[in-house]
Amino acid sequence: MRTQSIDSAVLDIDSDAIVAGIFSDLRPGHLLRELDQALGGAVNRLIAREEIRGKLAEVTRIFPSQGLRTDEVVVVGRGDRDSFNPGAAWRAAAAAAKQLAGRRRRRVIFAWDDPGPDTAAAICGALVGCQGQDLYRAEKKLYAFEELLWHGASAASITQGTVLGECVNLTRRLVNEGPSYLTPARFAEEALEVAQQTGLELEVWDEQRLAIERCGALLAVARGSDHPPRVVILRYPGGDPQTPPLALLGKGVTFDSGGYSLKPTEAMQTMKCDMSGAATVLGTLAAAARLQLPVNVTGYLGLVENLISGDAFKLGDVLTARSGTTIEVLNTDAEGRLVLADLLDVAVEQGAGRLIDLATLTGACVVALGTDVTGLMTNDQTWCDALIAAAHRSGEPVWQLPMFEEFAEQIDSQVADIKNIGEGRWGGAITAAKFLERFVRNTPWIHADIAGPAFAEKPKAWLDAGGTGVMIRTLVELLRAAGEPENV
Ligand code: BES
Ligand code: MN
Ligand code: ZN
Repeated sequence: MRTQSIDSAVLDIDSDAIVAGIFSDLRPGHLLRELDQALGGAVNRLIAREEIRGKLAEVTRIFPSQGLRTDEVVVVGRGDRDSFNPGAAWRAAAAAAKQLAGRRRRRVIFAWDDPGPDTAAAICGALVGCQGQDLYRAEKKLYAFEELLWHGASAASITQGTVLGECVNLTRRLVNEGPSYLTPARFAEEALEVAQQTGLELEVWDEQRLAIERCGALLAVARGSDHPPRVVILRYPGGDPQTPPLALLGKGVTFDSGGYSLKPTEAMQTMKCDMSGAATVLGTLAAAARLQLPVNVTGYLGLVENLISGDAFKLGDVLTARSGTTIEVLNTDAEGRLVLADLLDVAVEQGAGRLIDLATLTGACVVALGTDVTGLMTNDQTWCDALIAAAHRSGEPVWQLPMFEEFAEQIDSQVADIKNIGEGRWGGAITAAKFLERFVRNTPWIHADIAGPAFAEKPKAWLDAGGTGVMIRTLVELLRAAGEPENV
């Protein structure tokens, strides 16, 4: 999809559709008034009939009878004028784009009144709304437009919105690929391709190197699979060389069968999504590099497959993690924390100044917060507050869970230093975080459990089902804020 800004009158250009916006106060701006005039007052009539209500992401399609150079005018609700922000812009644009993407379109023009700081988010939404999960369907449910024109957009917002949209879609595509295609090695190759295209530095650790690095916890998870593990390290040194990098770490379990603590079919059906954290880190690093953000970021992808075989790890095994901590395995389905344990240790040893890990870590987090909210846990409130603020600006819902000491006692083991599950299932998102905390030493750290929002089982009006690319917009927003002079 080509994306471009235009300044000429939108009715002078041939197009398949023009998308206008309206707030819930129903006061049309001048672009919408112009379109209304060309349509013989159709917009105002629809407003009077309460067909158009300006509700956020509500889409109304108007087909002019003749005489216009567009086939269709779409009016999308922008919600409350005062609370309109990048999150709302993203959703409204995505909803309109998704509607139109049901058919092939050559040219779609977005003509929203008062384009402002939210335009980049809206452009991102338009790109994301157009991409579906139907990678291998002959007849697509969604077709990306050939050309997207945005009236009055600045060059900067075109670049930012396009890059962000493409990076979110990259992550979504990887999540949607089948697990026998996207093995750890294949994921590393995909990362290499991204690195070559964006100028990221890349290092791949294979099984041999991981053994030399004593990554005993990660390697134990990988042992049941014929597809050997990989750790991919991506470096983007965009900031002051004196500033230690921010490390982003992603759980990349390319398929989670549960191992010998085998999942039932229903629970296993969506477990190709268990590499979403790693795909999110890759998408974020790609965006940082393409947008040349003035920050140092290093991405760590922990890529393994959790399967069963004659040599798979077992319940009762005691592992020695890279840090030296010994771990009693009492559930092979609690594998993500084992992968992250070694990954965190590598990042800390390599001098990360701050850490954020992203992982589809626990069903318990979905029980606590539902399918749309990311759970945050931290050892450093100031650091977490910065992420919460960025999430708020991006319109991505996050909620912090407490890290009381009582939860740490639950992972004490009789045999080893710790065990990989808590006592019973209650508070499982937090006992998992308490496990991870053992490997971050004193580095400011946030754990983001994206088990709920990373993968949508049902489509939404603004987003197809499947991988969602959740948290990339928030992380890029955080990096942008970190690069501002007053925050360095
Ligand atoms: N990958 C799963 C968590 C998950 C669940 C992700 C639902 C996405 C949707 C993780 O590896 C897992 O199986 N966790 C266990 C932990 C338990 C054994 C302590 C769980 O949540 O049941
Ligand atoms: Mn699991
Ligand atoms: Zn898992």
